[in-house]
Amino acid sequence: MMDFQVISLFPEMFDAVTRHGITARALEKKIYSVNVINPRDFTQDNHKTVDDRPYGGGPGMVMLADPLEKAIKAAKQQQGNIKSHVIHLSPRGVPLNHKKVMELSRHPGLILLASRYEGVDERLLESLVDEEISIGDYVLSGGELPAMVLIDAIVRQLPGALGDADSAVEDSFVDGLLDCPHYTRPEVLSLENMTGLKVPEVLLSGNHAKIREWRLKQSLLLTRAKRPDLLAARSLTKEEARLLKELDTELSAQEQASS
Ligand SMILES: C[S@@+](CC[C@H](N)C(=O)[O-])C[C@H]1O[C@@H](n2cnc3c(N)ncnc32)[C@H](O)[C@@H]1O
Repeated sequence: MMDFQVISLFPEMFDAVTRHGITARALEKKIYSVNVINPRDFTQDNHKTVDDRPYGGGPGMVMLADPLEKAIKAAKQQQGNIKSHVIHLSPRGVPLNHKKVMELSRHPGLILLASRYEGVDERLLESLVDEEISIGDYVLSGGELPAMVLIDAIVRQLPGALGDADSAVEDSFVDGLLDCPHYTRPEVLSLENMTGLKVPEVLLSGNHAKIREWRLKQSLLLTRAKRPDLLAARSLTKEEARLLKELDTELSAQEQASS
């Protein structure tokens, strides 16, 4: 069972992961465990101080090394014999992607440091943190949402977490492509602003080989249109190259017909 120890000033925020949906069910099934440690519990003063002004001046506050060092020690104790891997969620970290999620999902235990304010005393980061991870080039108010993003993305990859074992395999990014479009009932929509919209014929055909090929073709089309960088980063299989060629022929035929 994978174990997450999270260090955060706002433990109740993690209810979002532990109480809802796939991550709640996986927790019940003991596919993973999560425990939130509050650095305030390791302060010694009456005010339970966890931050102080930055040396050199400037705006904002900086998280003190002392309570965080003790919180990390407590997290490691919780994980017992597991070789803990300490991650600080930070805008300056390695950008999170599918490959990173898969790599992290192989750790038996992770300690996630979700900081606040301007950040953390650098000496603690240098001494006790193994790696820093960012969830994108923008700044959030705290590391809790990034830590939850990481937990959710990892838990989806753990065996047994998803009801249908195949759904993670077909998700976007797994094979370097975006997911294909999905449709459900009814076959024809007759809503006020969406009338006569049909499900693509092939999906109703029952021909599984044709459906698989159509889906792959749609994934290629979407990836080329929306995320050409993903296609450029990988080589194409023979089938993918053929389907892309077919798409080009179809698109130029459509252009000629409309001109
Ligand atoms: C207000 S931010 C601090 C921003 C910091 N002064 C900077 O400019 O990089 C507070 C905390 O939120 C978390 N955080 C904010 N944006 C993040 C992101 N894009 N990815 C991961 N963590 C982030 C980090 O834990 C950070 O220490």
